[in-house]
Amino acid sequence: MKKLVINGGRKLDGSVMLQGSKNSALPILAATVAVGGTSVIHNCPDLTDISATLKILRHLGCRTKREGNTVIVDASGANRFDIPENLMREMRSSIVFLGALLAGFGRGSVTPPGGCEIGLRPIDLHLSSLKRMGVSVDEKNGRLECIAENGVKGGHVRLSFPSVGATENIILAAVRAREETVITNAAREPEIVDLADFLNRCGAQIKGAGQSVIRIRPVKNLVPAEHTIIPDRIVASTFMACAASAGGTVAVNGIVRSHLDSVISVFENAGCGITVSGRELVVRVNRRLSGIRYLKTMPYPGFPTDSQAIVMAMLAKSDGTSVVAEKIFENRFRHVPELAKMGADIRIENGCVAVVRGVEKLHGANVAATDLRGGCALAVAALGADGKTTIGNVFHIDRGCENFETGLAQLGADVKRLQ
Ligand code: UD1
Repeated sequence: MKKLVINGGRKLDGSVMLQGSKNSALPILAATVAVGGTSVIHNCPDLTDISATLKILRHLGCRTKREGNTVIVDASGANRFDIPENLMREMRSSIVFLGALLAGFGRGSVTPPGGCEIGLRPIDLHLSSLKRMGVSVDEKNGRLECIAENGVKGGHVRLSFPSVGATENIILAAVRAREETVITNAAREPEIVDLADFLNRCGAQIKGAGQSVIRIRPVKNLVPAEHTIIPDRIVASTFMACAASAGGTVAVNGIVRSHLDSVISVFENAGCGITVSGRELVVRVNRRLSGIRYLKTMPYPGFPTDSQAIVMAMLAKSDGTSVVAEKIFENRFRHVPELAKMGADIRIENGCVAVVRGVEKLHGANVAATDLRGGCALAVAALGADGKTTIGNVFHIDRGCENFETGLAQLGADVKRLQ
C-alpha cells in the first residue's frame, strides 16, 4: 500500500505550477460523447479519476490518447449507452455520463455512482430533473435505465439545491434536446462555466453559466473542438494551506484570482500575507496563524467544501479557536480523528460543526487518508508538525492531486513516497 512520509518543520520556499481542474475535466471528457468526432482537451491532469473516465469512454467505443497533459478523444465510434457497475463505482462523477449519453443516444443505462465516502451523495436531483425534461427513468436489477424516446424534450427545471453534478447533467442532456431548457437555482461553480464554454465552442447555445439561471437553446448538431481546462482552484488552496502550515513563501502559478476570492479572504483572516499579480499568487507566512472565528462552507461563490479539511488542518496549530461549519456534505469530518493523532484539538458538534482549538505544536504520527481532501489535510498538518508523519491510503490523494509530493519537494518539503 502506497504511503507518503513527511518530515515536518521545514519552511517552504519556491513556486509550483497549478494543474488543470479535475472537476472540470471529468464532465468535459464525458461531454465528448455527446459531441461526437475528435475533441482535444488540453491541461487535463494525469489522475486516477481521469484514467477512470477514459476507461468509461473506451468502454463506450471511443478511442482515447494522452499526449502529456493533452487528451484526445475520438468519439466517432461510440456505440454503447451502458456503463458497467465496476466502472460506475470508481468515482461519483461517473454519473455525468448519463446526461452525455442521453444527448448522444437518447438513452443511458448506469448504476448509482461511487466516490469519496463523504456523505450520502444521492442523485435524486439528477433524476427528477431529467424526468422533468422528458426522460423516463426505470430502476431494474440495481441499474437505472433512462430513455428519451425521440430525444430529450427539455423544459424548466428548478433545483431545490444548486447541485454541481445535477447542473452538469441537465446542461449535457439539454444541448441537443427538442425544446429550450431553463435551469433555475443552478450551481455557479467555475467548473460549470468551463463545461458550458467547451460545449459552446462545439456549437451549443448555453447562456448564463456562472449565474443562477442557465438557458440552453438546443442545437441539432455539435462539432468537436479544442479546449483548455481551467486551473484547479482546490489544489491552489491546498498549496496555499501547505505554505500556511509550514511557514515560508510560496508562489502558486497559473491561478484565476476570481475563483479564489472566498479562499483568499479566509487565509488573510488567519494572518497569511497574500499578493496576487496576474496569474501568480504568493503566500507569505512568517508567524503563527490566528484562529478564524467562524467559517462555513457554501456553494460557489462561498467557501468551497473541498477546501474545508485543508484549512482546518492549517488552523490546528493557530493561536485561538476556530469554528468550522460544513454545510454541503453531512460526513465530511472523517479527517478529524486522524488530525487528533497528530495532537490536534478538534471537537465535533452535531456532526457538522468542528471547534478547532489551536495547539502550540503538532507531532508526527501514523495516519491514513480517509478521502481525497482529507488526505491532503493530513499532508498540510504534517508539513507543520514536528517529526515524521506517515500517511497511508495515498490512493485517495492520487485521485485529485497530480504529482503532489513532487510539487511539495520542489518547495523544499522533506517528503517521499513509499511504494
Ligand atoms: C461536486 C464536486 C465535489 C464538490 C461538490 C460540492 C465534482 C466531480 N465533484 O460534487 O468535489 O465537493 O461538487 O462543491 O465536480 N445532493 C442531493 N441530491 C442530488 C445531488 C446532490 O441531495 O441529486 C446533495 C449532496 O448529497 C451534497 C450536496 O447536494 O450534500 C452537494 O452535492 P453536489 O453539488 O451535487 O456535489 P457533486 O456534484 O457530487
